[in-house]
This record gives sequence, C-alpha cells and structure tokens, in this order.
Amino acid sequence: MPDFGADATRPIRCVIDTDPGIDDAVAILFALQSGWFDVLGISTVAGNLGIPVTTRNAGRILALASRTGIPVVAGAERPLARKGFDTKDIHGGDGLGGVAFPEPAEPPLAANAVSWLADLLTREPAGSIDLLALGPMTNLALLVREAPQAARRIRRLIAMGGAVDEPGNIGPRTEFNIAADPEAAQIVLSAGLPLTLIPLDATRRLRATRDDCAALAALGTPAARASALLIEAYFNATTGRESRPLHDPCVMLLAARPELFGLQRLGLSVDTGQSEDAGALDRAPGAPAVDVAMTVDARGALALLAEGLGRA
Ligand code: RIB
Ligand code: CA
Repeated sequence: MPDFGADATRPIRCVIDTDPGIDDAVAILFALQSGWFDVLGISTVAGNLGIPVTTRNAGRILALASRTGIPVVAGAERPLARKGFDTKDIHGGDGLGGVAFPEPAEPPLAANAVSWLADLLTREPAGSIDLLALGPMTNLALLVREAPQAARRIRRLIAMGGAVDEPGNIGPRTEFNIAADPEAAQIVLSAGLPLTLIPLDATRRLRATRDDCAALAALGTPAARASALLIEAYFNATTGRESRPLHDPCVMLLAARPELFGLQRLGLSVDTGQSEDAGALDRAPGAPAVDVAMTVDARGALALLAEGLGRA
C-alpha cells in the first residue's frame, strides 16, 4: 500500500459516498472538522434509508458543520437487483437517531451522482481523488459499469463492508452494506480497483463508552457535540455500556492514519445467490487481491476521532 495518511498540510482530496445514517454522520463530521480532508462532494445512495432521507441528511450534516460549497448529489435509489433493507430500528426514522440537525442550507445538485462522479474523475488529474464509501456499493458499481475509464482514475477506494471471519450483522454471515447490494459489491471487488475494504472484523472492535461520549461533548465544537449525541443514540439496543460499532468512521480514520489498522491482502468473492447468505464474502484466491483491514488499534482510533472532531 503506497504511502498514505493525511494532515492539515496535505488534506486528502476525496468524494464521500454515503447513506447517512448515524455512523455515516460521525464519519462525515470527522472528515469536515479535522481539516485533513478536502471533500469535493458527497454522493448519496439508498441504504440505511431511502434516497430522499439520505440526501437530505447529507445536506443537514454539512449545515451543522457550517460548510457551504460542497455539492451533494443523489445516486442510486435502489440496489442493482434487489429490494434492500429497512434499518429504522437502528438509525431512527430520520436516519440521525432523532438528534437535532439544521435543515440543508443548499439544495442537492440537479444531477445524478454516477455521471457527476465520472465527470469529476475525468476532469481532475488521474490518481488525485480518493473515494470514501460508507454504504451499499451501488453507485460505485454503476461507475465501474458505465464509466470504467473514469473509475480507473480513482487514487484509492476505501469502503466499509463485509465480514470475513466475523459473524454478520444482517444475517449469520452477511454485513449490511454488501448484503444490501451483493451484485454491486461483486462488480466492485472484481474490478481491480485500488480497494481497501474494512469489514466487521475490524469495525466491531471500535466502540465508544459513555465516558468517550462525555469527552467528545466537552470538546465543544458543533461536530464533536453532535457526534456525542449521535453515538449516544447508537447505544440503544446494546449492553448499554458501550455503543454499537463505529463502522463508517473507520473509513476516514484509515485514510488519515492507516497504521492504526492491520491489513491483509485477500482475494474475495461475494455470494450473489438467493439464500440468507446473499452478500456473504468468501476467500477466493483467484479474485483480484484487495487490502482488507482485519484489526484496529481501537483506543488509538478513538483518540484520533476525538482529535479530528475537536480541531478548531
Ligand atoms: O454494517 C454497517 C454499515 O451498514 C454501515 O455503513 C452502517 O451505516 C450501515 O450502512
Ligand atoms: Ca453507512
């Protein structure tokens, strides 16, 4: 893996593809507040909730962070070939756990995310933009299928998804982002893109305690205060001692500080059948090898999350 990582002197030029979503919102607020990311746009996808809600939430998150001029562009309204899932019991009806967010300050672009992304990648120098993927891979698969030359200009794709040795979270062996659109994931994993996949094997290790939330709130920035409330909303239906896993923030944390994660090179295939295992990952030595984050330094990652959310 080439030398990556970020700091304020060399921010990561990126597009965030997302289905906000509580953990998506924390990840996006971290990217915006830290100053380590130059967010060129936010593309939305149906996943945790429908595209109207995920697109509105992207605008609400930008408004909370007082960021204007970052385009929000809506993408796929449904998976390539399936119905998708409803996750209101986890993310709430508004997708943000009922936490108070302002309304979007700017409307989304009147464009489709896939063509907007293809144009951006074609216009900008090859290898100058990272794609940070926090939801089902539908938009990414459509980009590979409809604009393969543009897709090849991506510097690095970092995506949260899947479960390798870890049990699933939407089925015995299946993780939500990949199970929501297995066909899309299979297209992306076999496209030969410079992909780093962060499965449940790593993300399940990153959880926040109520003390972590109190420390975040005390940082005082709107992004840190909102993230503390979002993570507390994420305590529902857990042991109560710690939050649900902070899945999507792992994408930005790996982009900023890859040494916090333990990577393996694996060829993977996706089950695209009709059983409860649709979306399950299997090791496939013949498939194009990708970097897979199998471990994380959880305390170091939480410290970096707080550092980024608390930056003035
Ligand atoms: O399995 C976790 C993933 O599913 C996260 O991206 C979460 O936001 C949900 O989309
Ligand atoms: Ca997500």
